[in-house]
Amino acid sequence: MLLLLCFGLSMLAAVQSSGVKNCHLGCRCEVESFGLFDSFSLTRVDCRGLAPSTTMPIPIPLDTTHLDLSSIALGPLSETMLAGPGYTTLVSLDISSNRITKINPNALSKLRYLETLDLSHNDLVSLSPSCFSGLPLAEVDLSHNSFQEFDMDVFATKVNGGAVSVDLSHNKLVSVSTISHGKALHIQSLNLSANQLSRVPTLAGLPLRYLSLDSNPITRITEGAFAQLKDLVHLSISSLHELQEIEPYSFKGLQSLQVLDLSNNHKLKTLSPAVFSGLNSLQELNLSGSGVVSLPNNMLTHLPSIKSITLGRGIHCWRTQKQGQFHPQLGQVQHNEVLNCNVEGIAL
Ligand SMILES: *[C@@H]1O[C@H](CO)[C@@H](O)[C@H](O)[C@H]1NC(C)=O
Ligand SMILES: *[C@@H]1O[C@H](CO)[C@@H](O)[C@H](O)[C@H]1NC(C)=O
Repeated sequence: MLLLLCFGLSMLAAVQSSGVKNCHLGCRCEVESFGLFDSFSLTRVDCRGLAPSTTMPIPIPLDTTHLDLSSIALGPLSETMLAGPGYTTLVSLDISSNRITKINPNALSKLRYLETLDLSHNDLVSLSPSCFSGLPLAEVDLSHNSFQEFDMDVFATKVNGGAVSVDLSHNKLVSVSTISHGKALHIQSLNLSANQLSRVPTLAGLPLRYLSLDSNPITRITEGAFAQLKDLVHLSISSLHELQEIEPYSFKGLQSLQVLDLSNNHKLKTLSPAVFSGLNSLQELNLSGSGVVSLPNNMLTHLPSIKSITLGRGIHCWRTQKQGQFHPQLGQVQHNEVLNCNVEGIAL
């Protein structure tokens, strides 16, 4: 019986790769089967670096889930390039490093199961509104492009000819959320690093958990810049070589934020305590390589969950408990938490 169980489990965990019929010349196709009686399978197709003259769409097996079309000089994406058989089942698509300057508004519309899209290292300046409409995208990498602005309308629902009107009169309002969910609210990770953004884009209301704005020419971050990003856990705003100021209350509303990377912002010299207002969940703050070498006193009151702070020039501070004092009448007095640093004379 035990033997049978073990056999069953090993069947369940078995991952097999087998050859695939009709794999396009120059691509590598792989099927991974798993589950009891191979009931689940993933087909990965890797056409990285394929010769540019190839006819489009590149033929792929019918049930392809993961497709890598990076570095094949695709150029502007037309309506038909990603509309072949096999494309509708894609969960993940890599079209990075392809000199893509434009994306036809309907170029991605057939990819209705797409969760992960890598468009990094292209020449995109803008995207048409609703470009990602209807796709269950959770992760989009737009790093290393030329966006000067980013409009979250790209996630909005496509509207055919005019506005959608919703008549709510004579109704008891039970839930408005079903209406506002018209936006594609799956997006969890957005990478906009290494673009030409001069200010923090408005992303209010997106259910992002990770956001990177690294290496953009942003000069200042203003009050409420990240308002309504209540699910954000990790925010990276590092290597902003023009950043001079972060206004008080800039991070207001980031109630779930655990990691804030502000490293390598050389021109950033000071931070007022109110900058950190509202960061109740923040555990890790990185200011290494920034112009900020000391922090305002009583930091801990502003950052109740902080565990680690890294400052310029190798200064690292972490939370420790100060040994409680023994009082003859009261006994052990409550422990105090302090941040201890690896450099003498810095106490927060
Ligand atoms: C965002 O993009 C940058 C540059 O391409 C990369 O270094 C970083 O790892 C990316 N972040 C994530 C979470 O993928
Ligand atoms: C802080 O950022 C620097 C530079 O980006 C990096 O090398 C370092 O590992 C980071 N430190 C922590 C504690 O995350």
